[in-house]
Amino acid sequence: MKRTIIIFILSFFLIDFVSSVNQWQKNELIKVSTNNQEMIFKVDGSGKVLFLYWGSIMNDATPFLEYKNKNFQLTDQTITPQLYQPYGGITYIEPALQLTHADGVITTELIFEKVEKISMNENIDHTVITLKDNVYPLYADILFKSYKKENIISQSVSVYHKEDGDIQINKIASTYIPLHANSYHLTYFYGSWGREMNIEEKKLTPGISVIESKRGVRNTQSTNPSFLLSLNGVSGEYSGDVYAGSLAWSGTYKITFECDETNALHIVGGINPFVSTYYIKANEKFTTPEMILSYSNEGRNKITHHFHDWARRYNIKHGDQIRPVVLNSWEGTYFDFDEKKILKMIDDAAILGIELFVLDDGWFGNKYPRNHDNAGLGDWQVNKKKLPRGIKYLAEYAHKKGLKFGIWIEPEMVNPKSELADNHPDWIVKSGNREKPTERTQWILDLSNPLVQKFVYKSVDNLLSESSHINYIKWDANRYVTNAGSEHLPKDRQSHFWIEYTKGLYNVYERLRAKYPELLMQQCSSGGGRIDFGALKYHDEFWTSDDTNPSHRIFIQHGTNIFYPSIATGAHVSANPNHQTGMYNSLKFRFDVAMSGRLGMELQPADITGSEYDFAKKAIENYKYIRNTVQMGDLYRLVSPYNDTGWSSLMYVSKDKKQAVLFVYNLKFQSPTAFFETQLKGLDTNKNYKIEELNAVENKNLFWGNLKSFTGDYLMKAGINVDLTEPFTSRVFLLEVE
Ligand code: GLA
Repeated sequence: MKRTIIIFILSFFLIDFVSSVNQWQKNELIKVSTNNQEMIFKVDGSGKVLFLYWGSIMNDATPFLEYKNKNFQLTDQTITPQLYQPYGGITYIEPALQLTHADGVITTELIFEKVEKISMNENIDHTVITLKDNVYPLYADILFKSYKKENIISQSVSVYHKEDGDIQINKIASTYIPLHANSYHLTYFYGSWGREMNIEEKKLTPGISVIESKRGVRNTQSTNPSFLLSLNGVSGEYSGDVYAGSLAWSGTYKITFECDETNALHIVGGINPFVSTYYIKANEKFTTPEMILSYSNEGRNKITHHFHDWARRYNIKHGDQIRPVVLNSWEGTYFDFDEKKILKMIDDAAILGIELFVLDDGWFGNKYPRNHDNAGLGDWQVNKKKLPRGIKYLAEYAHKKGLKFGIWIEPEMVNPKSELADNHPDWIVKSGNREKPTERTQWILDLSNPLVQKFVYKSVDNLLSESSHINYIKWDANRYVTNAGSEHLPKDRQSHFWIEYTKGLYNVYERLRAKYPELLMQQCSSGGGRIDFGALKYHDEFWTSDDTNPSHRIFIQHGTNIFYPSIATGAHVSANPNHQTGMYNSLKFRFDVAMSGRLGMELQPADITGSEYDFAKKAIENYKYIRNTVQMGDLYRLVSPYNDTGWSSLMYVSKDKKQAVLFVYNLKFQSPTAFFETQLKGLDTNKNYKIEELNAVENKNLFWGNLKSFTGDYLMKAGINVDLTEPFTSRVFLLEVE
């Protein structure tokens, strides 16, 4: 009986699934859409698939069936952009695909083969448009996943063939986007260690602008594979057409923006083709990473909402779960600790209201103890001298004190001074017999090698097997690849290295996630060196930057949170003076900045004393009260720190609009007659909000409207003004519906 029911249920789903596969009807437009945006393609007379439109949903798109652009009259064939432009046919732009066929031919021309639309569930549609070379048995599946409610469309491409021999892929992008406007402004993110995710916006001029990384690891420290593209003017926060993309890939990448002679713009983005020629045999498939795309006609703040909502729901781990308040041991002890010191930190953390203690670098290595960054990486056995009762004891101790326990690991790396380097020199990334350059006195393990993948997996697995009370790992990666090469890959496949490394890394993550679905994982790479949606798929959060100086963090978090959500943004209160910058900041300013992300601490709690201790304890309590809104709510950037007034401000509004939190910062000395004023966003016009100032020191100089109520309408029209004149000061306000 039971079996019959199961079979019945299965066949019901099967029918439902099959009936949702719609075959394309000739002369129909092919649409990929979400709730408020769509891409429109059509097949032309020669079989090419043309990319006609990406923007807001149209009431009637049928004129596109007849559409011709001006260039059509000038040439024998249309040069209306194709869905996925290869090198071949009449094209002059940077191609999305360039490959060498088995017979040596270097051109490819793709024509329509078929389209399938699959409804995965009520929110997600998949559209696969299959293209075929018009001469060779070579196919490209262009896969769009549309997330309707979140207004996100992801794109990836798979190439496969039945040619007589290997084909050589010289370039394969995840996406090609053509746009046409009077002018284009590109916003991108750049930086270096301790100053990640600076924002730069520039007007595109004729020619090609590029954002790329050739580093393989720690890719996002200097640039990030995300961009905003604004049409006809600089990108507005709340107005204007903005297109956005972010590549979900932790390896090398390249995104080009080509402004051609007709003033059309062609965006091509994906894995960096730089020394990455990849060969595939007949019937093998190569699939690119996904480019995550979104469009807004209400400026870039809407883009942020799309990405944050999508990331929490579909891309980061446990995106529906509130994050614990962390104490990370690094700046509190560095390598200099023993069991007694760590137990004391756990005790202090517990009293302060911390919920997760993370033991950072320095806990491992015996023959080559990790007492400095020049030894021990690779030898993931607990250092018996420092921690005689092992990690298990610490994890259980923390647990008894009511805290979760986390631990740092950097499993892709190896110090020359380590047992691992002694035993497995063949596992280290190297270029033939050349010198292996170190960075931070370490080498990189060759993750293209399945044996190395197994070792890395085992290292983490063994560590986690020590105790079921290890709830969190901080996965670090403190250098990038130089002199790339692998002893594992054959000599004619060395150019597979960059891609195989990243695939190897994902393979390890996959296996760990399958075994430890509940584990919390932080992605760290010397701070924000691996912040991308590829790695984030396996992680709960990232370490945003090693620079915790609040006046710098305001900029770093502002840039980071354009694409990546606050719930994943590790933001810690650290010691005074700041260890990176030597600057002094009040405890309030440090908390007020860290509380706009995932709050944590990075210091020795015993060093906070007297009234500061009471302040810290209360601030942590306040954070717990507002964190649902900060981590799950909608972010509104009110005043950018990049404006030159010195003031900046942001707010979060809970999804039900019942709670909001407003942060205001001042980075300059302001004249005593000046005051900060801004209109709020995202509130319910008709509701009354009671405002309460949080983290006020000794309740002095409180906001004039403290504990008073205002309508959402008033706050969004008249705004709020506060006295904030001294440099490096801040205020936090809680707004709650009465
Ligand atoms: C990197 C990280 C730091 C810390 C150290 C430990 O620099 O960004 O947070 O974990 O490594 O060596």
